Amino acid sequence: MTVYEFAKGLILEAGNNVRKIMDQDLEIETKSNPNDLVTNVDKATEHYIYDNIMQTYPNHAVIGEEGHGHDLVDISGVVWVVDPIDGTLNFVHQGENFAISIGIFQDGQPYAGFVYDVMNDVLYHAKVGEGAFENETLLPSIKDTQLKQSIIAINPNWLTKPKLGEMFKPIVEDARSARAYGSAALEIIYVATGKLAAYITPRLQPWDFAGGLIILHEVNGVASNLAGATLSITSANSIVIANKQLHNELLTSYFNYHQDTITVLHERMQQK
Ligand code: IPD
Ligand code: CA
Ligand code: CA
Repeated sequence: MTVYEFAKGLILEAGNNVRKIMDQDLEIETKSNPNDLVTNVDKATEHYIYDNIMQTYPNHAVIGEEGHGHDLVDISGVVWVVDPIDGTLNFVHQGENFAISIGIFQDGQPYAGFVYDVMNDVLYHAKVGEGAFENETLLPSIKDTQLKQSIIAINPNWLTKPKLGEMFKPIVEDARSARAYGSAALEIIYVATGKLAAYITPRLQPWDFAGGLIILHEVNGVASNLAGATLSITSANSIVIANKQLHNELLTSYFNYHQDTITVLHERMQQK
């Protein structure tokens, strides 16, 4: 069995477990602030995924949101980047609209990506160079769009921040419309499936985007930080994800005029 086949079985099994235990009483704790939640299901799911990887591939490394590998700097060999529940607020409040996300890298290069929309039982997956799939259906390449004909995703909370609001508001004004779904992994998938033309956010951790990124690349989507640089899988990043034409338009006609704000944003991110 290849690592890809193993990962596919593992994420489906982890999602199956989530569906089984989520109706029991949730234990909810807060993390960095009162709106940053984690549940026993997030923790149990990360443990399940971690333990299974270690049993089969003891020489692989794991970076997981709920505690594994946060200090990993050497990304040689195989590294799994895992978000056990992406969209925990949706999970707690809605019981849906969340995903399990796994990205696998070999010597820092993408190998495979998986985003499992658990409640809809839809697995998005890709192995580099072999196309991206929605369950077993090959996804077509995404089409270019201009901002004025695009639906984009951005969390409205960012528009309330003075500097970030100044940077993001013109984009929202010029787009056909804006949405927020509350799961970065699913929002990246919605770009990869053409439901959205772009997803923009000032800060994501590697586990939020690692699985979706590889799927996005396989349908010719483009990802970078707000300054146009490649995303790192070992640190927080600002994010602009879109079809090729719109990605270029966002960088050259919008973010290019806010380089000071972006520099400050990136400096603060490195300090944390
Ligand atoms: C969060 C979600 C959310 C995004 C946050 C992430 P979590 O992940 O992806 O959509 O806006 O930045 O932290 O905490 O639910 O795994
Ligand atoms: Ca999470
Ligand atoms: Ca997440």
